[in-house]
Amino acid sequence: MTSRVPIEPQPVDAPLTRSATFLVLAVKDDPKAIDTVRSTIAGIDDLSKNVSIRDLNASFACTVGIGSNIWDRLTGLPRPAELHPFREVKGKVHTAISTPGDLLFHIRSERRDICFEFEKQLLDLLGDTVTVVDDTVGFRYFDVRDLLGFVDGTANPVGQALPEATTVGDEDAPSSGGSYILVQKYLHDLKGWKSQSTEQQEAIIGRTKLDNVELDDAEEGQQQSHKTLNTIEDENGDEQDVLRDNMPFGSPGSGEVGTYFIGYTRRLWVIEKMLERMFIGNPPGLHDRILDYSTPVTGVTFFAPSASTLASLDPD
Ligand code: HEM
Repeated sequence: MTSRVPIEPQPVDAPLTRSATFLVLAVKDDPKAIDTVRSTIAGIDDLSKNVSIRDLNASFACTVGIGSNIWDRLTGLPRPAELHPFREVKGKVHTAISTPGDLLFHIRSERRDICFEFEKQLLDLLGDTVTVVDDTVGFRYFDVRDLLGFVDGTANPVGQALPEATTVGDEDAPSSGGSYILVQKYLHDLKGWKSQSTEQQEAIIGRTKLDNVELDDAEEGQQQSHKTLNTIEDENGDEQDVLRDNMPFGSPGSGEVGTYFIGYTRRLWVIEKMLERMFIGNPPGLHDRILDYSTPVTGVTFFAPSASTLASLDPD
């Protein structure tokens, strides 16, 4: 399929691509630096066009997220109702740590070179106004599997359920059209994981490995699978979805391999509840056993304003 027009900026629903870059930056605490950053992110649509036009089949997309600590100084806009720094979740055995980050660029394309080029042009514009906190390159692994070998992303919302789950609406009018983003970079202990039988791995995830079929939930009060722990309901019993665009990263030679978790949501509390259930457990004490083989080394929250709000940050 050839698109005539490049994908708009801030497209939460952009397709899952073969390659992605997750770039987290810290902004220098200096008014001039903040001005440069503001005009750069307000002009992200032009920067995106520079790169996406070079191959319209490559599904280039970029989403900019703004962190809680810099929100007021950078945007001058009302704070999104739920925006706050990542809250550490400390379980008996595992901890979801909170780490710094002022800006997130989620850069996606079918082509690695397109992601590379966009990141290069972006960092050239930002110059010394920022420092790189983390720069992770994700890749598609076969039929969208994570490096634990399971298909990842199956239960994501589709159709009308997608904006319903990811896009803030009238409940917070000044932030409407935007989305909360939570990222965590997980490192895997593949040796430990491989020492488990396929049946044990399937019980941990809650789906079969080869053909990706959902398994029944365990009895209440028993050890729950990752899938069950992450099935969240509101006070009316309605299931609350989020959008996950996780990607594998790393290289066998470096010894560092993992899953970059990225969740988009209309309600930050939903992802926070998932983290509580994974790290503290449900019932408390029975944590998600995926964590015995996956350790988060980052944890940051952001808010991605709508494309028009982002563009309006710089009146020029
Ligand atoms: C090491 C990191 C992680 C890996 C490898 C991983 C992998 C998976 C896999 C294989 C599935 C089943 C297929 C699917 O529906 O996508 C799944 C489901 C899911 N995961 Fe994760 N995940 C990770 C971290 C997280 C985190 C941190 C959260 C939330 C804070 C999360 C939320 C979910 C949700 C909501 C589902 C769907 C549950 C349902 O069936 O309704 N995952 N994950």
